[in-house]
Amino acid sequence: MHSKPCLLLLLFALLCNPIQARNASSMASDLRSCLSSAQVHNLSFSSSSSSFSNLLNISIQNLRFTDPSIPKPLAIILPSTKSQIQTSILCCRRTGVSIRIRSGGHSYEGQSSTSSSLPFAIIDLMNLKSIHFDISSNTSWVQAGASIGELYLTISTLSNLSLAISAGSCPTMGAGGHIAGGGFGFLSRKYGLAADTVVDALLIDYEGKVFDKRSMGSDVFWAIRGGGGGSWGVVYAWKLRAVPVPNTVTRFTLQRGGATVPDAALLLHKWQTIAPNLPDEFYLSTLISGDINGNLTTISISFSGLFLGSKTTAIAIITSRFPELQLSDSDCIEETWLDSATHYAGLDSSAQLSNRSQLKDYYKAKSDYVRAPISKHDLEMVLDKLAGVSPAYLILDPYGGAMSRISESDLPFPHRAGILFSIQYLIGWTAEDERSGIGEKYIDDLRGFYEFMAPFVSKNPREAYANYLDLDLGGEIFFGEF
Ligand SMILES: Cc1cc2nc3c(=O)[nH]c(=O)nc-3n(C[C@H](O)[C@H](O)[C@H](O)COP(=O)(O)OP(=O)(O)OC[C@H]3O[C@@H](n4cnc5c(N)ncnc54)[C@H](O)[C@@H]3O)c2cc1C
Ligand SMILES: *[C@@H]1O[C@H](CO)[C@@H](O)[C@H](O)[C@H]1NC(C)=O
Ligand SMILES: *[C@@H]1O[C@H](CO)[C@@H](O)[C@H](O)[C@H]1NC(C)=O
Ligand SMILES: *[C@@H]1O[C@H](CO)[C@@H](O)[C@H](O)[C@H]1NC(C)=O
Ligand SMILES: *[C@@H]1O[C@H](CO)[C@@H](O)[C@H](O)[C@H]1NC(C)=O
Ligand SMILES: *[C@@H]1O[C@H](CO)[C@@H](O)[C@H](O)[C@H]1NC(C)=O
Ligand SMILES: *[C@@H]1O[C@H](CO)[C@@H](O)[C@H](O)[C@H]1NC(C)=O
Ligand SMILES: *[C@@H]1O[C@H](CO)[C@@H](O)[C@H](O)[C@H]1NC(C)=O
Repeated sequence: MHSKPCLLLLLFALLCNPIQARNASSMASDLRSCLSSAQVHNLSFSSSSSSFSNLLNISIQNLRFTDPSIPKPLAIILPSTKSQIQTSILCCRRTGVSIRIRSGGHSYEGQSSTSSSLPFAIIDLMNLKSIHFDISSNTSWVQAGASIGELYLTISTLSNLSLAISAGSCPTMGAGGHIAGGGFGFLSRKYGLAADTVVDALLIDYEGKVFDKRSMGSDVFWAIRGGGGGSWGVVYAWKLRAVPVPNTVTRFTLQRGGATVPDAALLLHKWQTIAPNLPDEFYLSTLISGDINGNLTTISISFSGLFLGSKTTAIAIITSRFPELQLSDSDCIEETWLDSATHYAGLDSSAQLSNRSQLKDYYKAKSDYVRAPISKHDLEMVLDKLAGVSPAYLILDPYGGAMSRISESDLPFPHRAGILFSIQYLIGWTAEDERSGIGEKYIDDLRGFYEFMAPFVSKNPREAYANYLDLDLGGEIFFGEF
């Protein structure tokens, strides 16, 4: 007569015990034998070994997530074929190990390298980086582990510099995560996001099944392009449309250091209405920081420009629309699009675009979108406040152009018509600062500044960019666990 509770108890035990009773080392050995019987051999296990730690650290871009206190994976798996990804997923599931997917490791919140769902393994796609360009259609299949720099270099070279890829500015980002989160860059006002140029994709789901655009269905194909990676499945490869660029483009960076708050506010006030309305061929962003020294507040403001055309035309456009910038011939460099991407990345030669090693630091980022111009008076308040949260800085990216012509329902990226610009809030620090514990204060400062900005930015909802991932807004990413 008490068989019912017993049955329930038995069921409960069966469901829960196999996972709970096993310790990490037995799960690791189960995972290892599952993978090795399926011929997946490039693995790293022992979290105490320095080769494991090195492999883990190698692509963690934000050093905050290398800290010993951050949960470490049980294993790092480096598949080198599509079927090895399938096997890796199935073996993790069979052994009760959660999955993190890693391409370039540039997640602002370390989401590709740590997890709160323990134990977990990283499926790292760094060995899947081939790029096949089809000259007859100007499209290319790009494996997720290819870096954006490798992609730029390959497409430029194979198209004799006539084509480019519309994506972000940092060459060490991975195609996998970057495109899954949108991918905004110098060409986006002309051609949209990287995600807007995706024409097909190969996706491996939590059951280990492979889908292309047709077989995954239009909803899934919509979902994987722009809302952020890590949850829908493993993108094995993207098929991207390459976009035409002229033989030479014009690049400039104008430093306006030591400006007073009113002077800088005046420039910004003009910029916010001019930059989003420039011709599509013009990208003009600004980077702003401030400092307070005694009773003196100074603002440093710099403008980065890229124009898909000659410097004569670039200067004519700026002189008529934004004369305050005083853009002159000597500020402008005419070079190939590939060289402009190289130089914006701080590199000397385009061959270095395929160099995966990178400068890293500790940082926190947040983001906003602005739909209505901010008044001069409010901009002065913003700059005064910013100067007090040094070393924080802002990067303002102009939208408009193609960004505003693509429908907000096209992709899970709704920041289209009506957006003037995005704001990225950043604060970075060194290993020494980290040891002194000041990092926590910096993060709090940035959060305070973000709160302060609420009246001046988009509302209901307050928008943010998935690629500038900010877990303060919630949304830790899980693959296949709902
Ligand atoms: C220095 C720097 C500069 C940046 N500049 C720009 C910029 O100019 N424009 C812009 O738009 N963004 C920029 N970003 C943000 C960048 O686009 C995101 O951080 C992006 O997620 C990085 O992709 P990743 O593959 O390198 O990162 P990862 O950390 O490997 O992945 C990011 C997320 O995607 C998931 N993921 C990774 N690979 C796959 C895959 N194959 N399939 C499914 N999910 C996957 C991960 O699990 C994780 O959740 C920059 C970031 C940094 C650090
Ligand atoms: C882990 O579990 C295995 C098998 O269940 C057992 O042999 C081993 O002693 C356990 N290790 C620890 C540290 O508990
Ligand atoms: C595994 O992949 C890494 C990264 O590419 C490589 O350095 C290493 O040699 C590979 N190891 C094996 C055993 O193939
Ligand atoms: C990885 O980074 C952490 C934190 O900076 C450090 O303690 C560890 O020694 C690094 N591992 C290797 C192999 O460099
Ligand atoms: C491919 O790009 C080249 C260079 O811009 C262009 O001349 C050609 O017409 C394009 N081909 C297709 C099929 O779009
Ligand atoms: C690039 O130039 C080479 C050699 O001149 C030629 O064979 C190739 O077809 C060209 N590719 C494109 C995309 O124009
Ligand atoms: C700012 O400080 C300087 C030097 O301490 C002083 O001479 C000056 O009067 C101060 N200016 C204002 C506006 O307070
Ligand atoms: C790659 O970049 C690193 C760090 O930026 C640098 O030290 C190294 O020399 C570069 N390697 C090549 C081959 O350029």
